[in-house]
Amino acid sequence: MSTPQPPAAESGSGSILADSTPVSPPSADIPHASPAVQPDGLPTVHPHHDGALFHTRQPETSRETRDIIPAANELGPTGRKTREVPDPTPLPSHGPAKIIAMCNQKGGVGKTTSTINLGASLAAYGRRVLLVDLDPQGALSAGLGVAHHELDLTVYNLLVEPKISADDVIMRTRVDNLDLLPSNIDLSAAEIQLVTEVGREQTLGRVLHPILDRYDYVLIDCQPSLGLLTVNALTCADEVLIPMECEYFSLRGLALLNDTVEKVRDRLNPRLKLAGIVVTMFDARTLHSREVMTRVVEVFGDVVYDTVITRTVRFPETSVAGEPITTWAPKSSGAQAYRALAREVIYRSGP
Ligand SMILES: Nc1ncnc2c1ncn2[C@@H]1O[C@H](COP(=O)(O)OP(=O)(O)OP(=O)(O)O)[C@@H](O)[C@H]1O
Ligand SMILES: [Mg+2]
Repeated sequence: MSTPQPPAAESGSGSILADSTPVSPPSADIPHASPAVQPDGLPTVHPHHDGALFHTRQPETSRETRDIIPAANELGPTGRKTREVPDPTPLPSHGPAKIIAMCNQKGGVGKTTSTINLGASLAAYGRRVLLVDLDPQGALSAGLGVAHHELDLTVYNLLVEPKISADDVIMRTRVDNLDLLPSNIDLSAAEIQLVTEVGREQTLGRVLHPILDRYDYVLIDCQPSLGLLTVNALTCADEVLIPMECEYFSLRGLALLNDTVEKVRDRLNPRLKLAGIVVTMFDARTLHSREVMTRVVEVFGDVVYDTVITRTVRFPETSVAGEPITTWAPKSSGAQAYRALAREVIYRSGP
């Protein structure tokens, strides 16, 4: 398939569910299984109508939309002065992609939420982004409105069938510049099937290699385990970004993750670096959150991003709606925070 063209205007982030119209209930007319194909050949995901079972879009309140990102040199939620990060400059050309594995073996810490929203924010800054769903739960795919259970081709086929290329599986999302390699439960079989392969840890890197030139960032959403799929992500990644829930047990899990990252660096991927740790689900009102934050910064220092993601019900809402918070509630503190994280990620990536 040819290089993706700039996405069509109607697939842009501004066009989807941009008003407060209630989302329609699931309808037999809406084909979830077979994605629409754009003129450039890339299929586009359909709106995820299950959201209507739960709620309609709430207006953004002034409390929510106030600017929560501290200015440079002000004390931020990490307890440090916020470092100055310039606005990203437009890119004259694209690729080759930096691959970032979004990894933490602890479940429910915000890996998938961070993958979707960091990806959408990087895309809003004009970066071409590919999201890879490397979790058989398929939450990344569902979170972007893909009816993943009904897909014929997913990352599973890409990993185990030599004739399938990334182009056969890539979908365009409803966000400009944001593409997806979707997954579903089929992927759970890949871990077993890959065990007997020669170079089993390099499988993902091999299949992604031909398309890296088209993207600026590839973000891989890992499953909550340190099994073979996660090792594949770490083996092909340039960097690992660790989302960490702001609670005591998360700190203990980081030591184990660090061991795995070091082993992969020693044995499989010497260029693997730690991109940073982003603290998620922070609640400034609780002493526990503040204490854990202090400890994380003591232990990991500058590796911890200045951007902190606070706990808000807006994120579970976006999973149901099937779109990033940057389009669901663009002015919300959550959207602002992920845009700030994207600025830090771009800045740390260097020119
Ligand atoms: N900042 C936040 N505030 C409140 N809820 C959040 C926040 N971030 C994520 N969540 C919610 O927490 C749940 C877990 O988040 P998410 O799926 O991103 O975690 P995960 O690390 O990918 O989980 P898993 O390990 O199962 O893959 C989801 O319901 C999500 O909507
Ligand atoms: Mg997840």
